[in-house]
Amino acid sequence: MAAKKNRKGMRIGVLTAGGDCPGLNAAIRGVAKTAMLEYNMKVFGISSGFSGLIEKDYFEIKEEHLSGILTMGGTILGTSREKPFKKTDNYMNDIDKPTLIRETYEEMKLDCLVCIGGNGTQKTAGKLSKFGLNVIGIPKTIDNDVWGTDVTFGFDSAVTIATEAIDRLHTTANSHKRIMVIELMGHYAGWITLYSGIAGGGDVILIPEIKYEEDIIVNYLKERIIKRKQSSIVVVAEGILTDGKIPAGEYIANLISTQTGVETRETKLGYIQRGGTPTASDRILATQYGAYAAELIANNLFNRMVAINNNKVVAVPLDVVAGRLKLVSHDNQLVMQARNMGTCFGDVFEE
Ligand code: F6P
Repeated sequence: MAAKKNRKGMRIGVLTAGGDCPGLNAAIRGVAKTAMLEYNMKVFGISSGFSGLIEKDYFEIKEEHLSGILTMGGTILGTSREKPFKKTDNYMNDIDKPTLIRETYEEMKLDCLVCIGGNGTQKTAGKLSKFGLNVIGIPKTIDNDVWGTDVTFGFDSAVTIATEAIDRLHTTANSHKRIMVIELMGHYAGWITLYSGIAGGGDVILIPEIKYEEDIIVNYLKERIIKRKQSSIVVVAEGILTDGKIPAGEYIANLISTQTGVETRETKLGYIQRGGTPTASDRILATQYGAYAAELIANNLFNRMVAINNNKVVAVPLDVVAGRLKLVSHDNQLVMQARNMGTCFGDVFEE
């Protein structure tokens, strides 16, 4: 992008919202360093997502705040799941959060607000842009389900951790001739489960997008026993449909142990897949997103979300992104290839 060099006097705010993920600090550093060093802008860090704007909790970011944060997990700004446009049941008594946010934005004399977050955050960013603020969105989430971008940072780190966990389950499963069920994050989207399931050689992969039948899973695992396969690995996304009473992994493990008679154990990876240092690839992606956000602002291009399309960093209108989820499609190439290699998705697939 042909960028205007000196944007002295321009002021931007940065916040991180929603669940944290590896790479947030790399993105903050990417925006702030580019904005300060290349464009001479002032950058303000807003604490705890949109709550910081409501509560006027912010500080000016200086270069020293950015030292050593590239490799750090979490977010130096803190985060929250505050949704300022959401009405409560008692909405007549609700404080007018969007107006408070606009007041803080004006008080801080901001030219743009950078919102680093997942789907909910991009939705709020879109609403704030309609409310008169200049906004740039940066997509992050381990779930990789933000519409409009090929990938979000945080995803590669989560897949790496989940894959390592599956690798470790293989050795203990083999030793005991057991079936191991591992539950991974993803309420609506099965990206983490699909990618780490493939990378870790999962025998059964269950994701929210593909409706499974219990009999198919059980028969597939019984077939493996007949084929003298010593053990099996079942990778389950937390969002698959179950009886809704117990967590997905536990539900599938109970089903398998009662129906196959094979000793079955269940592991829930939980927040371990969301914490810790980002992978090299997530550091690079987050840095690029951050730097590009600052370039957009320097060129007075607002109300867009930074994205990656076919390996190129681009900007997409926030309008297009808001309220949509990027899910695994039934004809996803990886799913099809895994099917061809005998992986069970719990369904009967007909082309
Ligand atoms: O960040 C996305 C996500 O990790 C989901 O996959 C998960 O279900 C959810 O956040 C849980 O986060 P929390 O408990 O912080 O709301």
